[in-house]
Amino acid sequence: MSVQIVIGAQWGDEGKGKIVDIYAERSDVVVRFQGGNNAGHTLVIDGVKTVLHHIPSGILRPEVRCVLAGGVVVDPKVLLEEIEPLKQRGIIQADRQLLVGAECSVIMPYHRALDQARELSRGGNKIGTTGRGIGPCYEDRVARRSVFVRDLLDKEKLQAKLEDVLPEKNALLKLHGAEGFEMSAIMDEMLGYGESLRQYVGEANSEVREAINGGKNVLFEGAQGTLLDIGLGTYPFVTSSHTVSGAACVGAGIGPRFVEEVIGVSKAYCTRVGAGPFPTELHDELGQALREKGHEFGSTTGRPRRCGWVDLVALRYAVQVNGLTSLAITKLDVLSGLDTIQMCVAYKDANGNLVNEVPLDSEQLEGIVPVYESMPGWSEDITECRTLDELPEAAVNYVREIAKRCDVKVNLVSVGPGRKATMETDLR
Ligand code: IMP
Repeated sequence: MSVQIVIGAQWGDEGKGKIVDIYAERSDVVVRFQGGNNAGHTLVIDGVKTVLHHIPSGILRPEVRCVLAGGVVVDPKVLLEEIEPLKQRGIIQADRQLLVGAECSVIMPYHRALDQARELSRGGNKIGTTGRGIGPCYEDRVARRSVFVRDLLDKEKLQAKLEDVLPEKNALLKLHGAEGFEMSAIMDEMLGYGESLRQYVGEANSEVREAINGGKNVLFEGAQGTLLDIGLGTYPFVTSSHTVSGAACVGAGIGPRFVEEVIGVSKAYCTRVGAGPFPTELHDELGQALREKGHEFGSTTGRPRRCGWVDLVALRYAVQVNGLTSLAITKLDVLSGLDTIQMCVAYKDANGNLVNEVPLDSEQLEGIVPVYESMPGWSEDITECRTLDELPEAAVNYVREIAKRCDVKVNLVSVGPGRKATMETDLR
């Protein structure tokens, strides 16, 4: 038996999908445990690109069971649109491979509308959400008025819940100058989704526990990244769920003692999408060059990602709060061709004092000045390298320095989008 968690160690978009797909080769079950379709995991297998928003990245391995555990918020419309092409490609075969938790909260049309209307009302103070309704859906969960996936299979229950919440939602939408929703239209739409999803719905959390008790290999797939965590990230520029490793325990209902490995995924540089402080952001041509070379455009919203140097203060924080047992470094190839590479090793505050931890107060973080150390770059194209021996010495030294300064071993280095463009390492 093995229980592993793969987590984003930065601000999301670290390339978790590819890393999960690789680890999934040795897994029986892959579990999403938080977030919803704000995630966008891009996988390239034999040149074919698949973008997943809801479905775990293990889905391209036919023998793997993919589970949306109770901590996930599900937009049934989006989920069905995602299932359909995968079914047509023969990847999803009925319910054998995919289990949608009856206990997942449903992203309702009014959640999407509220998310978008609020962002519009914020004017220049936008969070830059994905507009998928994630925040309003989690709000309802905390407020104990969530519609669950199981409710989509039960007309009376759904009606009773909607009678309770819809008038308030419509009043809120009106406040933001947006259109409200008709009870009968929502009922029809949601019950229709329920029927289409019925074959996939089951008690996800208990299945995950059974898998662990039965000695299976279970892999938990995080979405977003550590610094977007609602409690441990750069609030308020965060998502609305816990994104750190501990969220796997509460999202799927397992105790922490079962977890054996926590793998953090980090790019060899750093990106962020949406608003919020980003100390190592590059506002010059180099930032632009990283964006183009790394194809740094959001797979969910298509927005250009902000790019910058690797931030080891933030990465060390991720190692601590997730209890990382190893790191996977992605997109090392994007740094090829630079004479020198900068790594942020510490922060200074506005008064020039050294700061060794990420200040989670956004205003304080906004005023931070990164302290950089330079490392020699390399000029070679490394996309065909498959072992550490084939990498230029400067590239190995760069990765080793990350491992050393973060006090965690690097087990995997990725040099391209495909499955094969990966090497196993033991750098520390
Ligand atoms: P929300 O999750 O849509 O509420 O968006 C809140 C913040 O998290 C915004 O800055 C989004 O850009 C960011 N975010 C949400 N999901 C992802 C993701 O999967 N990758 C990167 N950023 C994300």
